[in-house]
Amino acid sequence: MQANGCRILSLNSQKEYLITVGTYGLSDLYLKKGPLDARKSLPDILEGKVVFIADAAKDERVQYPQIALAQGISSIIGVPVLGKGETIGEIRIYTHEPRQFSEADRSFLHSVADMCAVVFERAELHQLLEQDHKTRGRRKKSSQVPPLPTTLESSSFAHPSEEDFAKLLDFYCIEWLYEPRSFPLRWQGGKIAEMFTPDFYLPELDLYVELTTLKQNLLTEKNRKLRQLRELYPEVNIRLLNKNDFLKLLAKYGYGPLGEAKVEGIDRVLYSNAKIQRRIRTLARHISRDYTGQRLVLIGILKGVVCFMADLMQHLSLPVTLDFMAISYYGGDGQVVKITRDLDSSITGQHVLMVEDIVDTGMTLNYILSHLSAHNPASLRVCTLLDKRARRLVNVPLDYVGFEVPDEFVVGYGLDYKGEYRNLPFIGILHPELIKGEGPTPT
Ligand code: PRP
Repeated sequence: MQANGCRILSLNSQKEYLITVGTYGLSDLYLKKGPLDARKSLPDILEGKVVFIADAAKDERVQYPQIALAQGISSIIGVPVLGKGETIGEIRIYTHEPRQFSEADRSFLHSVADMCAVVFERAELHQLLEQDHKTRGRRKKSSQVPPLPTTLESSSFAHPSEEDFAKLLDFYCIEWLYEPRSFPLRWQGGKIAEMFTPDFYLPELDLYVELTTLKQNLLTEKNRKLRQLRELYPEVNIRLLNKNDFLKLLAKYGYGPLGEAKVEGIDRVLYSNAKIQRRIRTLARHISRDYTGQRLVLIGILKGVVCFMADLMQHLSLPVTLDFMAISYYGGDGQVVKITRDLDSSITGQHVLMVEDIVDTGMTLNYILSHLSAHNPASLRVCTLLDKRARRLVNVPLDYVGFEVPDEFVVGYGLDYKGEYRNLPFIGILHPELIKGEGPTPT
């Protein structure tokens, strides 16, 4: 195609960032110009469209036009890599001379994109199989199939400590990009004489991280570069961290824990605190919109709902009052519900929103809803953070749902196992060994 550069990109799991899988003919500086935001960089590709940029320096669909100009890039064509009808990645072709792309060029790129889709999907399947092997406690097998590009296994780290850091980030479900941006620090005769490339970028925290070693001479040098970087790029948030600093930082951002012992028994983190908070803000927006101009009574069932209720209500832009109920279960199979603490105030004629941490079989909610309906509220809706639909026995109407969870034992963020784990800031899956022999998964 007489192109000057090519790049194959994959979308991260949240479909927010593009991760480079392979490149040809592009300079290091161009490749490390910063994180590629899928909504800012040729955004229409997300909708499955081909994007043609005639002049990269002047087109607002290009995220870093200045760098394209400096690197002499004129025209770009981007073609989506589609998996099951959705964009899962992209192919981009770059040219120095302005040019058009013919129908033959476009159809060639579509064919390459189709081949990429097959590779991406095989890689994903491979990864699921690897995960399955790991959870069954088998030894990890090597394979001919390349791993999915957005993960730990595909990144070649310069140092083992970086891989450890990435594993920790993965454990806490924190999105990361490895070395996505190089910062020029010094120029000589119009050319870059010194650059600094931080090890990681954490998009959810908008934070660059450089890992430290204990070698004093390296540390002094890094500190010098960081000072320079902060002077030249004051808008950039960057931290120099060792492992302990990192754990403290996690705690500060609510990822926790400070001591690793606290997560003993957790197989993996399902939703990080940042992800929970993001979802809660969206739910709160929908609820506030739906109840505009009205007052709302939030009713929670103790105790699992405490974290969710506390965070949700802070984002509601409505006059809100709170009430709580407590229940216990009895009967041979423990499925008969009894109210042990009833409402403080009457809900007759009020708009009521039942708030739950998790709906599992639906028995509890079904009972509570019929109890509340008998008090004739003006309206009665349900908001649950988690919906374990796979275990539903009674059909209950759910108006606002945070996440649909798999049929596994989830704990943290209010949810317990034998009274513990409620204080974890994230939602994790309990290690299957802990609940072995306890029958079907409870909540
Ligand atoms: C959980 C949860 C729901 C109920 C859902 O409470 O808070 O109220 O289970 O289960 P179901 O759909 O099968 O009825 P749990 O009994 O664990 O008590 P807790 O809130 O004190 O943790």
